[in-house]
Amino acid sequence: MLYESRRFSTISGPGEERALIVEVEQGEAGSVQAAVLAVPLAEPPSAAFRRLDERLGGRLAALVAAGDAKAEAGKSLLLHVAPGEPIAAERVLLAGVGTSDDDSLRTAAAAAVRTGVGGTVAWAFDDSLPGGQARAVVEGALLGAHDVGRWKTNGGGARVQRFVLAGAPAAAADVAARAAIVARWTNRARELVDGPPNEVTPVGLAAAAGDLLTPLGVTVETLGPAEIEQLGLGGLAAVGGGSVNEPRLIVLRHGGDRPPELGLVGKSITFDSGGYFLKQQSDIVRQKADMGGGAAVLGAVGAIAELGLELGVLAVLPAAENMIGGGAFRPGDILRTASGLTVEVTNPDAEGRIVMADALWYARREGAARLVDVATLTGAMRAAIGDMYIGVFANDDDWRAQVVAAGNESGDHAWPWPLHARYRRLLDSPLADLRNTSGRSFGYPIVAAAFLERFVGDVPWAHLDIHSAAYLDEDRDYLGRGASGAGVRLLTELATRLS
Ligand code: BES
Ligand code: ZN
Ligand code: ZN
Repeated sequence: MLYESRRFSTISGPGEERALIVEVEQGEAGSVQAAVLAVPLAEPPSAAFRRLDERLGGRLAALVAAGDAKAEAGKSLLLHVAPGEPIAAERVLLAGVGTSDDDSLRTAAAAAVRTGVGGTVAWAFDDSLPGGQARAVVEGALLGAHDVGRWKTNGGGARVQRFVLAGAPAAAADVAARAAIVARWTNRARELVDGPPNEVTPVGLAAAAGDLLTPLGVTVETLGPAEIEQLGLGGLAAVGGGSVNEPRLIVLRHGGDRPPELGLVGKSITFDSGGYFLKQQSDIVRQKADMGGGAAVLGAVGAIAELGLELGVLAVLPAAENMIGGGAFRPGDILRTASGLTVEVTNPDAEGRIVMADALWYARREGAARLVDVATLTGAMRAAIGDMYIGVFANDDDWRAQVVAAGNESGDHAWPWPLHARYRRLLDSPLADLRNTSGRSFGYPIVAAAFLERFVGDVPWAHLDIHSAAYLDEDRDYLGRGASGAGVRLLTELATRLS
């Protein structure tokens, strides 16, 4: 087996040595020892800026007046503190915070940890900024400092080891600690998605879930091919049939004896070749990220457990590798899903909805009172909405509104999409109960959601198509290229609100 089960836990598990430590220090920001002291630069300049500018004899205001330092979010200017100047830090970073909304603050904090200077980075807490500052800045720093070079043998460059919220009120400590937990789990999800598909196989993903989550009291159960067949999960068995890396159904439980008040289902296709509708090169190269939904659910369960939320959570990850070969499913196959519905395979590249159908059935069978599924389901999602928003589909207006609200609050922005019973006719099959694609070249994300809707019964359900936001081709604000961890923050916020 290629996956070394200890890799994820030794390198990034709870308590790991590479983690960026977050601390809150009360008192004057100017007195904090740090390699870099980031000073938020707003328009007009704020209280923290003016206090430090006074200590530096107007040096900062002069740079702003000259146009060298800009208040735009993400723009920054690094200066050395001269000997004798009354600032304990070695450098000051003028960090533009733009309109000071949470995303701008995250972006500014990310800039502060990305100057290339390692060691301690401090953020001069600013009372005049809006209330979400501690949470946003800690998130931005941890997500911004995320290092993807885990497979490099030379260890990479200078690393930020400590992030200090300087001059923050005592109440910020708790907010910062919670934000750090959520951001670290977001980074673990990113690490799994960026992880190579030769390591993150269905078995590898199950091993990572066990390594990362069992220390937090989460029950991790993994069903193999025999149990998958015995339970009648014919969709998962068929999609996973073409690979030597056999499928697994990974089941996570948090909350002890509590019934599952929240059921999470995450698409975990560890590599999607497209099956016998083999993908073209430009699309296939990103398909290691097709387990982004499962990684988001795994990360959220980790955060929920580490935050100690009092809520019963059940999570189901249908893990399979969609490959070609003698055991692979074919166009034309008719599959019997666990729900009893039969599906005519019109497109073996629309495999996600097939494995999700079985996993949704399993979550319902285990008694989940509400459902959220998360999936990199359709490429058209990104063409439609870009790389920022997650698309939300639901069978319940109130549940959808809660999901969207949790998204906006958490920074995992989500936008509602339509879903109407009349889309179902597009999936009528002459041979079986339904087919897996419509054969029309329109409305892919909605048709996919309409397929899933057939498997959720009347349980309040929301479907997050995260293909748009899960994997970035270029840097976006506080996130670097590659996996973004889309969904972890939204799901954790949603669970927090339910607990
Ligand atoms: N994993 C893909 C979605 C995807 C496509 C992710 C491109 C990243 C880049 C999914 O399984 C898929 O292939 N969806 C099809 C659906 C279509 C056949 C209705 C797609 O989007 O082309
Ligand atoms: Zn596919
Ligand atoms: Zn896929």
